[in-house]
Amino acid sequence: MSGPDLLIQGGTVVSGSTSFVADVAVKDGLIQAVGAPGSLPEARETLDATGLFVLPGAIDVHVHFREPGYTHKEDWETGTAAAAMGGTTTVFEMPNTHPPTRSLAELRDKQAAARKAYVDFGIYGLLAEDNIGELQGLIDGGVNAFKCFMGNTFGNLPSPSTGAMLEGFEIIAPSGLRISLHAETASIMAWRQQRLIAAGRNDPLAHIAARPAVVAAEAVARAAILAEWTGARVHVLHISSALELGPLRDAKARGVDITGGTCPCYLLLDSSDYARLGSVIRVNPPVREAADSEAIWAALKDGTVDLIETDHAPHSPEEKTKAVIWEADCGFPGVETQMPLMLNQVSRGRLSLQDYVRFSAEQPAKRFGLWPAKGRIEAGAHADIAVVDMARTETIRAAALHSRGKVTPFEGESVTGVPVHTLVRGRFVQRDRRLVSEARGHGRQVTDIQRMPPPVLNHADQTLASVLRTPTPS
Ligand code: DOR
Ligand code: ZN
Repeated sequence: MSGPDLLIQGGTVVSGSTSFVADVAVKDGLIQAVGAPGSLPEARETLDATGLFVLPGAIDVHVHFREPGYTHKEDWETGTAAAAMGGTTTVFEMPNTHPPTRSLAELRDKQAAARKAYVDFGIYGLLAEDNIGELQGLIDGGVNAFKCFMGNTFGNLPSPSTGAMLEGFEIIAPSGLRISLHAETASIMAWRQQRLIAAGRNDPLAHIAARPAVVAAEAVARAAILAEWTGARVHVLHISSALELGPLRDAKARGVDITGGTCPCYLLLDSSDYARLGSVIRVNPPVREAADSEAIWAALKDGTVDLIETDHAPHSPEEKTKAVIWEADCGFPGVETQMPLMLNQVSRGRLSLQDYVRFSAEQPAKRFGLWPAKGRIEAGAHADIAVVDMARTETIRAAALHSRGKVTPFEGESVTGVPVHTLVRGRFVQRDRRLVSEARGHGRQVTDIQRMPPPVLNHADQTLASVLRTPTPS
């Protein structure tokens, strides 16, 4: 065995279930060995991690990098630079770009834009009303998951009817790829928003009034029924309410392959922050009540909510700061601040580092087919690593973010626990809190390592495709 390229010495290696002091040897982009301090062969280069923690890099299954089409907000270079600085080594990028990623040709364009990436990535294909005929081409062309906007949000992509959704689920189910849901029911929101506007409501809290928790819970329940009927795998993005947890738990108990994610804003902010933050806090779904946050924290701990994602959604200051709430773009950058914000919660005792690794790396890797190649610090896995200093305190400043989105509701927040180095397949993309600009373009799409287990299909004889194949009875 020839010596490693890099030895990370004396750090505390953390997994979802244990942590221990060890050396980590990296060779040819992989973790070659994890061993007792001093037990591994000498390497060309060493990194002293004494007193630091060695985590699998975060895997964020929910980012919007805006390219093509909205590159004044973000592009693949700035978005993945932000990920590298935030200890995130793999991102899954959403299809509400311009044009949206709704056909094979558009997938190829997005793959071309992604060549600048610092970190590894997956690409979402869109499931919409008007691209049902394109879904198989997207699957064959190498998308890593699908996104279905059940409710309107940035990009104003029309939500598919339940009929189109069901056919989409039927087509995607055999691939085993997960369908991530923006689970908010469009018709309820449109109805309420129009009534609120007519009544003269323009204030930030009107945003919650237009999208109460029932909007999300109804969508989760409906999508879960379609997933159960077809066997399609689904993921409920950005869980924001206690109410959604009911249909999510019920569907899991029925054996539906359904997972859930939440974002730091739903854990760390609540309705009392609207007065202070105004339109900056506008996000879909909305940040809700303190009792919702409490319920989501508990659901993370008990496994009902599987993972942490960010919904990284950068916009310009002009687009975010509006007197009329309906005019403010929704969302804010998150991929760079997720790890510090959550590690700060570790520092405060709200969760353990092991919990954090489970939610940020292990579960996303398992649920989106990247395990065992990614999401763990063990021999044979990709050397995707965040080296974390739990004693370091920083202040979040939007102006210093690598994202082009310079507006965050966490402006001025002091956080203890920061990723000080990030490696993607053995290569530094962030070192000592500096971006390694030479690593631009190092990121690769994860299609070659993605292994979704074979799905269990239901009612395959009743899919539209099979019904249409059956001769008409005479
Ligand atoms: O607030 C949001 N903004 N929620 C989403 O689901 C999409 C995102 C965006 O793309 O801006
Ligand atoms: Zn969404």
